[in-house]
Amino acid sequence: MEKSKFIWLNGKMVNWADAKVHIMSHAINYGTGVFEGIRVYETPKGKSVFRLKDHVRRMVGGCKIMGFEMEFGGKTYGEKEIYDSILETVRKNEKVDYVKPCVFLSGEEVGLNPVGVPTSMSITALYMGNYLGESDNGMKLITSSWHRPDNLCGPAGAKVNGSYVTSCLAKREAIRQGANEAVMLNSVGHVAECTGENIFILKDGKISTPQSSECILEGITRNSVIQVARDMGYTVEETEVTRSQLITADEVWMTGTAAEVASVTVIDDRPIGDGKVGEVTKKIGKKFHEIVTGKDLRYEGWLDYVN
Ligand SMILES: Cc1ncc(COP(=O)(O)O)c(C=O)c1O
Repeated sequence: MEKSKFIWLNGKMVNWADAKVHIMSHAINYGTGVFEGIRVYETPKGKSVFRLKDHVRRMVGGCKIMGFEMEFGGKTYGEKEIYDSILETVRKNEKVDYVKPCVFLSGEEVGLNPVGVPTSMSITALYMGNYLGESDNGMKLITSSWHRPDNLCGPAGAKVNGSYVTSCLAKREAIRQGANEAVMLNSVGHVAECTGENIFILKDGKISTPQSSECILEGITRNSVIQVARDMGYTVEETEVTRSQLITADEVWMTGTAAEVASVTVIDDRPIGDGKVGEVTKKIGKKFHEIVTGKDLRYEGWLDYVN
């Protein structure tokens, strides 16, 4: 990560070093925040934020689930105001490929009760680069011993800060075992997703991915890839995926804003297919890259231009 100059905080642009919250804020104590991760790409028409409206809608939905008041610096923020503030933050900073807005309970509190605790919103636009690291050989996964929390433990469909502790534990497990990522099973043992990515398999020409009821975050990249793969002529099924199906798939890939489309070639020490980056993964990854960088204008509706 490369730091940027300015962070948007409650309606004001502040220097990176000055974007601070109190140690006793409710969000620090209890993880009460909702965030997004959004990519910014260079296109022939200048910088574009990929599917910004959809990301903002998901974040506002998460805030509604959490019951957050959307008043920051004395002004009420809806989707339009958040959208505009994100674009303003991208414009204000130079080297940006990733934006992380976050709404959180910034009031100083010692008790769990979130009702009436003041909220803040921050928008950080920075340079992330390649999230999973460079590899021509695909990614190595382990199956985590930590399960993807189910819908009874919290809103699986919202990006709630505190919920990411499980992802952090699973990611730690992967890194400590020399892998790049971890796949998490849900409470009934089906494949759910990775720590910050959805997962797809290809078997006998058909693409499958865990359906939303499997306690996944319904990724915006996942949604894009489903649509693009169908437009390319593939059958894509949203269904239950077992660990056996994952390991015996011909190809496996992950999708996520940070990771984009990332090939998986090893899971739990077993090669996937022939152990090389799959041809369908390559094709879909290439198409996705053309779309986000504005080279395939059939999907231009997904690009939110910065200027
Ligand atoms: C747990 C989890 N699953 C999947 C994803 C992929 O979602 P998206 O494609 O919207 O980034 C993310 C990233 O936000 C995530 O945190």
